[in-house]
Amino acid sequence: MKLCVLGLGYIGLPTALLFAQRHKVIGVDVNKKIVEVLNSGEIPFDEPGLPELFNKVKDNFEAKTEVEDADVFLIAVPTPLDKSLKIADLKYVRTSAEMIYPYLKENNLVILESTVPPGTSERLVLPILKKGGLERFYFTHCPERAIPGNTIHEMINNDRIIGGIDEKSSEQTKTLYQSFVKGNLYLSNVRTAEFVKLMENTFRDINIALANEFAQMANENKINIWQAIEMANKHPRVNVLKPGPGVGGHCIAIDPWFLKVHSSTSKMISLAREINNSMPNYVLQIVEDLLEGISNPTITVLGVAYKGDVDDTRATPALKFIKLAENEGYKVKVHDPYVKEFEYEILNLDEAVKDSDCIVLITDHTPFKQINPEEISKLVRRRNIVDTRNLLDHERWKSEGFEIRILGNYFGSKF
Ligand SMILES: NC(=O)c1ccc[n+]([C@@H]2O[C@H](COP(=O)([O-])OP(=O)(O)OC[C@H]3O[C@@H](n4cnc5c(N)ncnc54)[C@H](O)[C@@H]3O)[C@@H](O)[C@H]2O)c1
Repeated sequence: MKLCVLGLGYIGLPTALLFAQRHKVIGVDVNKKIVEVLNSGEIPFDEPGLPELFNKVKDNFEAKTEVEDADVFLIAVPTPLDKSLKIADLKYVRTSAEMIYPYLKENNLVILESTVPPGTSERLVLPILKKGGLERFYFTHCPERAIPGNTIHEMINNDRIIGGIDEKSSEQTKTLYQSFVKGNLYLSNVRTAEFVKLMENTFRDINIALANEFAQMANENKINIWQAIEMANKHPRVNVLKPGPGVGGHCIAIDPWFLKVHSSTSKMISLAREINNSMPNYVLQIVEDLLEGISNPTITVLGVAYKGDVDDTRATPALKFIKLAENEGYKVKVHDPYVKEFEYEILNLDEAVKDSDCIVLITDHTPFKQINPEEISKLVRRRNIVDTRNLLDHERWKSEGFEIRILGNYFGSKF
């Protein structure tokens, strides 16, 4: 089989390389730089196991900027949210379909992996693919569930849903994915597959919102929510998620809107989004409470990636927190051991904490656990720290004289 994979990002590249273990794969990206990087033997972003996989399948993989004839076309391009309108921006999906249809031949298979609002395959993608007048080709939506940082393991081991325009499309896609997927492959129709993917991320967003609401209530109720969640989760049918400074990334913060826009009845989706979006404001309130009376404060943000141990800053709540803090007149310095490019300069740890009045841990990067509070105490101006992830060894920081606030733990403040 020859596959043409459109979009060589976090999802498309590992997918293309996993298929290249058994098939000939042409990876297509409109970003020339990505194609050049790959063809020079490098990987354009960090992902555990990806360089090793790349080396293994190099002979079966080539990156290009143009589509060419193939048996299977797979679309893994971005589907961002138009932030002001809160609707899906489908321009990349539309362009991909436009790029594929001139090359589409009888019995070819097209797989849409990108996350899309329900009905997109039938209303937008299929009509473009049919523009060449082709009668018989196969089409499925096969949404991706893998998580950055553990993408390869999850792509191989997760169960997946395959939604075809007909049974033969689903069966063919199943056979193809079986070349590397060890998880179960469940067959359905296109619209259900689109909906299922969005339900999954909406479920997580709403449950994180609930955990965030619990975290804010913990202070009012003078309890430690992290202990309370641990206890609640001893119930055989309860699994409260972790609170935090907000939800970011390419999926959970965005996909619920893809469902919401298609519904006149949904109520919980926007409420959950509102709660999660307000968490940076809540974290800033904690900081302000701690720094009351201090003029011209400088704060240090530890972690701008949207989640721990990755370099991905898409839709990170850190950005909103920083901008809110700047609006309050704070000077903000940023450190992240993984992130190389960000809207704000990424400093090394010593520079970032120098003369700081408060350290605010936003991302649960594992290396932050190794930070030595004794060394930090010599650099900062004031010993204050806010831990929004309950990550640090708080006793150690306290013994160095740090005043600590933990999101979701009673800290006796006025709010
Ligand atoms: N990243 C995740 O964790 C994740 C998880 C599940 C699902 N998804 C979904 O997978 C899809 C892809 O996400 P991603 O994170 O890989 O995006 P990404 O931004 O990392 O990569 C997408 C790539 O597609 C390229 N591209 C854009 N238009 C193109 C075109 N017409 N032809 C060829 N290439 C094109 C871009 O240059 C980019 O390199 C999205 O719909 C996303 O919602 C992502």
